[in-house]
Amino acid sequence: MTTIECKNLSFKYEQDYVLSNIDFKLKTNSLYVLKGDNGSGKTTLCKILTGLYDNYEGEIYLENRDIKKMNRDELLNLIFYSAQLTPVFSDTLSNNIFLDSKITKEQENKYFKMIKFFSLDELEEKEIIDDGSVSGGQKQKIGILRALFSNKEILIFDEPTANLDKQSIKKLVMIIKKLKETKLIIVISHDNTFDCIASEIIKI
Ligand SMILES: Nc1ncnc2c1ncn2[C@@H]1O[C@H](COP(=O)(O)OP(=O)(O)OP(=O)(O)O)[C@@H](O)[C@H]1O
Ligand SMILES: [Mg+2]
Repeated sequence: MTTIECKNLSFKYEQDYVLSNIDFKLKTNSLYVLKGDNGSGKTTLCKILTGLYDNYEGEIYLENRDIKKMNRDELLNLIFYSAQLTPVFSDTLSNNIFLDSKITKEQENKYFKMIKFFSLDELEEKEIIDDGSVSGGQKQKIGILRALFSNKEILIFDEPTANLDKQSIKKLVMIIKKLKETKLIIVISHDNTFDCIASEIIKI
């Protein structure tokens, strides 16, 4: 079963601790909403979970394996982190969403359904999109769909609603609610958008 366990996790970039004695146990088929003030360490925690920093104190277990003993590829096979700012590559919309993974017929059908659902048709019609010509909300949607189509067991969304309009936020809640049935999901959010579908709200 997919689980993440943090035991007494502390981390500092320089002298001051950014994270102090964090403890939690997360399991699949659940949605965890991570809250905390600007600078409280939410994004840092995600970076640690995805193996970007390993000079932390305490222990982190993924599926009961110490992540310090896993290589980065093993970690990234399990976790997809959708960052606060999604970079867009100069390529088609579908390559921007599927990245390097193979596309099955079933996924292709789902892709067109999601593009329509999330009002990205306009970008789908363009041959090439790039970072400078895509709006903030569209970038965010690309990041969300990247996570959705990544097929990873653990999906982390870092402030996914920041650039979305009201209608798109409602749609995102529907998407996350559905994903929650099969995945372990962490959503970082400053507002109450996801509280009603959360398994647990974690404050750091
Ligand atoms: N690479 C770095 N080097 C030094 N300090 C850093 C680095 N990255 C982040 N920090 C500091 O660590 C603290 C936590 O940053 P982090 O990005 O994790 O916060 P956050 O909770 O995600 O905030 P926000 O809600 O604004 O996104 C901040 O004080 C930040 O300035
Ligand atoms: Mg952040």
